[in-house]
Amino acid sequence: MDENQFKELADILRSKPRIAVLTGAGISAESGIPTFRGQDGLWKQFRAEELATPDAFRRDPGLVWEWYDWRRGIIAAREPHAGHYVLARWEEFFPDFVLITQNVDGLHRKAGSKNILELHGNIWQVRCAEEGTIAENDESPLKEIPPHCPSCGALLRPNVVWFGEALPRETLEKASASCARCDLMFVIGTSAFVQPAASLPFIAAEKGAKIVEINPNPTPLTRFADYSFQAKAGESLPVIDALLSERSEE
Ligand code: OAD
Repeated sequence: MDENQFKELADILRSKPRIAVLTGAGISAESGIPTFRGQDGLWKQFRAEELATPDAFRRDPGLVWEWYDWRRGIIAAREPHAGHYVLARWEEFFPDFVLITQNVDGLHRKAGSKNILELHGNIWQVRCAEEGTIAENDESPLKEIPPHCPSCGALLRPNVVWFGEALPRETLEKASASCARCDLMFVIGTSAFVQPAASLPFIAAEKGAKIVEINPNPTPLTRFADYSFQAKAGESLPVIDALLSERSEE
C-alpha cells in the first residue's frame, strides 16, 4: 500500500469534503460472504438466469427461494468488519456523507450506518408479488418455502433487484444526485461492471469529484481513479481512518 497516497488522501479528508461512497460485494468478502464474479464468485457456481430473474421466479419460486434461504443463512452468521465500521463512523464525522451500496446483505446497517441507499434492495426484506407491500423478514431458515403473504396469500419474493428489472427509482435518483454533488467518491469492492451502479463514479468525476478506488484487483474504473488502492477494504479503510484521526489531532 502506498503510504504517501494514503497520507495525501487523509489530508483531503481533513477538510471534510462532501463524500459519496459506492460499495459492492467485495466489501463483504472479508466478512465471509461470497462475491458474484471472480474465481469463487456465486455466478461461477450458479446460473443467474435460473435464480435471479423474474422468469426464474415465475417458473420455480421454490428453487429461487431455496437459493435465497441458503444465502440468508450464510449472511446471518456473518459480522461486519473494521471497514464497515469505519464507514459507519464517517457518517457521523463528515457533515455531507452518503453511502450507496449494491449489497443486499444488510452488513452496513449492522455496522451502524443509517443513511444507506440500497440500490439492489435488501435480502432481509420480502415483497408481496401481488400487492407490492414490503416487510422486514429475518427468519432463517424460512419456515415455509416459498413463503406467502400473510395478508393476501400471494407469493412473497425477496425484495431484491433481479436481472432485467429496474432499480428503485427514488433510490437511484438520490444516489445520482449525491454523486453529482460530492467532492470525493470512494468506490469500494465492486467490479464496476453492473449498470447503472457502474456509471455513478463517472457522474461524480464529470462534476469534478476525485475518485478513490479500493479493490485488490483492477476494474474498468481503475484507470479513471485519482487514487487507486489495490488492497482489501478491511485493511485499507482503517489505515485511512487512523491517518485521518492522527492528522486531525495535529
Ligand atoms: P462483484 O462480485 O462483481 O465484484 C466484487 C469485487 O470486489 C471484485 O472487483 C473484487 O476484486 C473485489 N474484492 C474482493 N475482495 C475484496 C476486498 N476484500 N476488498 C475490496 N474489494 C474486494 O460484485 P459487485 O460489483 O458488487 O447484483 O456486483 C454487482 C452486482 O452484480 C451485485 O449487486 C449483484 C451482482 O449480480 C444483483 O444481485 C442485482
